[in-house]
Amino acid sequence: MAKIGFISLGCPKNLVDSEVMLGMLQREGHTVTTDRSEADVIVVNTCSFIEGSKRESIDAILDAAELKRTGACRKLIVTGCLAERYPNEIRQDLVEVDAILGTNQIPEIVNAVDGLPVQAPTSFGRSDADLYLYDDTTPRTLVTPRHSAYLKISEGCDHTCAFCIIPKIRGRFRSRTLDSLVREARHLVELGVKEINLVSQDTTSYGSDLGIEDGLARLVESLAGVDGLRWLRFLYVYPELVSDRLIEAVASNENVCKYIDMPLQHASSRILKAMRRGGNRTSLTRMVDRIRNGIPGVTFRTTMIVGFPGESEQDFHELRSFCSDVEFDRLGVFTYSDEEDTAAFSLGDKTPAKVAERRRRELMDLQTRITRRKNRALVGTEHTVLVEGPSEESELLLQARLESQAPEIDGVCLVNDSEIGEVSAGEFRRARITRALDHDLLCTIVA
Ligand code: F3S
Repeated sequence: MAKIGFISLGCPKNLVDSEVMLGMLQREGHTVTTDRSEADVIVVNTCSFIEGSKRESIDAILDAAELKRTGACRKLIVTGCLAERYPNEIRQDLVEVDAILGTNQIPEIVNAVDGLPVQAPTSFGRSDADLYLYDDTTPRTLVTPRHSAYLKISEGCDHTCAFCIIPKIRGRFRSRTLDSLVREARHLVELGVKEINLVSQDTTSYGSDLGIEDGLARLVESLAGVDGLRWLRFLYVYPELVSDRLIEAVASNENVCKYIDMPLQHASSRILKAMRRGGNRTSLTRMVDRIRNGIPGVTFRTTMIVGFPGESEQDFHELRSFCSDVEFDRLGVFTYSDEEDTAAFSLGDKTPAKVAERRRRELMDLQTRITRRKNRALVGTEHTVLVEGPSEESELLLQARLESQAPEIDGVCLVNDSEIGEVSAGEFRRARITRALDHDLLCTIVA
């Protein structure tokens, strides 16, 4: 039996794949170690969304390759999105890699660790019959804090956004069944999970391939009924597909977080069209208003891409003025990454990197001012927080999150009072916000 060191990169969807692979390996009797220098086998589950994530994945593979020379490691396995996209390059240039598994070869991790032959992926060469999707009967080892878990509701994506490589990497959209998701959610709660975050490449299309009308709304309604589930949140909503029933499901269920995460990517109709997304500033503003009216107190998170090919100063100003008017609660800004095999790759009029970076900073500065003001308005108010345990910044502080703070992507609440010793990770407590920092909040436990 092998001692496995596992490195998981990329998004929460990829993290769930890592958890499934870990579950399969542990079921076979392999053990997992967090000390990579003592691992017999190192698995790197990679991301290849944009330039930075490819670099990070390659660096992790190189670090693991170094451990093959200097540590106990005798086998290096590369899985996930970089493996799916660049199997030939990995085989040729990273000779220390012993096995390569694509995103649909998750169950083959056991054979790869056992040294049995596995077929390397052929860059986007799969057929629909090869597509993989786990279910509630699949073993899964949670690596998130005990009180919080992700639940992957579907896989793949049928949208054709010009900048995005993910549909090619992950394949055609397919959903898990409603029953399987409810069973897995119940099981997670039995394990001590109190917060579930639904993830997928295209959350709002949930169930469309199974003929379920308004699938995400129905799923949210069903999961809201799971006994013991305190917070349910869903991420990655596609703008055009938010139904009235979904808004109602969020508004009317106490345990559904009043939180909408909707990557809008841009606000200029010219750029949205070039991105193959559609919509315009007016339609997006109307949609944000509809959600804010339908879900009082909702926290609205979005992401934007600046520097898309052909983005003029005027397009950027339209985007900035849209963000200034709408005042999102959370805004992430990325510079466009020119990815081969995407439709945008062949577009001319590429934005110089310096210009894109200047626009990113400008938009982030605007958002910092908005967030600071919104955070200051919270000082003195009381909220329920989910306590996460000691803060990453100092053991003298506890870290907690509000319903409006999703794990990993948003800020946190730092608890700095004398009650710290009496509060444990996974507890829900009432807390008063005492100070606003740029992204985080300081608070004190009140009950
Ligand atoms: Fe990266 Fe793959 Fe997720 S490309 S962002 S790990 S789906």
